[in-house]
Amino acid sequence: MKNHFDDIAEDYNDIWAFTPGYQEFMRNAILEALVLQPNDQLVDVGGGTGSYTYLISQQAGLLNKPYCVEPSAPMAAVAAQNRQLKVCCEDANQFALRDIRYDKLLLKEVVHHIKDRPAVWQGVFKQLNDVGRMLIVTRPRKLNFPFFDAAKQAFYHNQADANIWADELSLAGFNVDIQYATYEFELDKPVWFNMLRNRFMSDLAPFSDADIEAGILQVDRQYPKRSTVPVVEQLVLIVADKK
Ligand SMILES: C[S@@+](CC[C@H](N)C(=O)[O-])C[C@H]1O[C@@H](n2cnc3c(N)ncnc32)[C@H](O)[C@@H]1O
Repeated sequence: MKNHFDDIAEDYNDIWAFTPGYQEFMRNAILEALVLQPNDQLVDVGGGTGSYTYLISQQAGLLNKPYCVEPSAPMAAVAAQNRQLKVCCEDANQFALRDIRYDKLLLKEVVHHIKDRPAVWQGVFKQLNDVGRMLIVTRPRKLNFPFFDAAKQAFYHNQADANIWADELSLAGFNVDIQYATYEFELDKPVWFNMLRNRFMSDLAPFSDADIEAGILQVDRQYPKRSTVPVVEQLVLIVADKK
């Protein structure tokens, strides 16, 4: 089945870059929550183009190449250009059936795409080493990005409350902790509007070009006489341990 990310794979790294400061914040939030150690085998499920898989593995000084598991063939093809990654073109449910062992698993901005989550949690519980950890990086339902109203509603509709996922993980046998991290920054309006036009998040996919242009005007009017928009990134980090 066609995946929204198939269409934006080539441009994904450019349109999702935000700023160097943002990337550092995201990288550090993941490293801190995963407690990634050089000896760890890392798996990044829904790893996209592998940009964060690579960023965090380099910063942690991983001795083993990390897996980037990605169901969109065009996204996986971009990831495969990086020889430091082991890329598997499959989805979370297919990967959860594998006979494989690892120490840390990352699901960054992916959990809302997974169809049969309990099957994934069961599979990951079996695959993770005894002191292994899974980290889900996601956002609260009320997004603080400078979205137009209809886009905010679409995001709210598509996103579940983090407690739902935490409860599912507890049921699968994990010890669960929910952590939060926030990063605020200003982004140039042309950069932000280009991200909206490129439908950088899948919630924007159903909007027509006319909807997007009307939405951009709405956002522009909210910040008159300014060349930037304020972006508030609020991460919800769901940490799930086997012990
Ligand atoms: C918002 S992107 C995040 C990519 C990457 N984690 C990052 O942060 O750069 C969501 C990714 O999840 C992938 N995805 C969609 N459905 C999936 C599924 N059922 N299992 C695993 N990944 C999935 C998409 O193809 C896409 O690459």
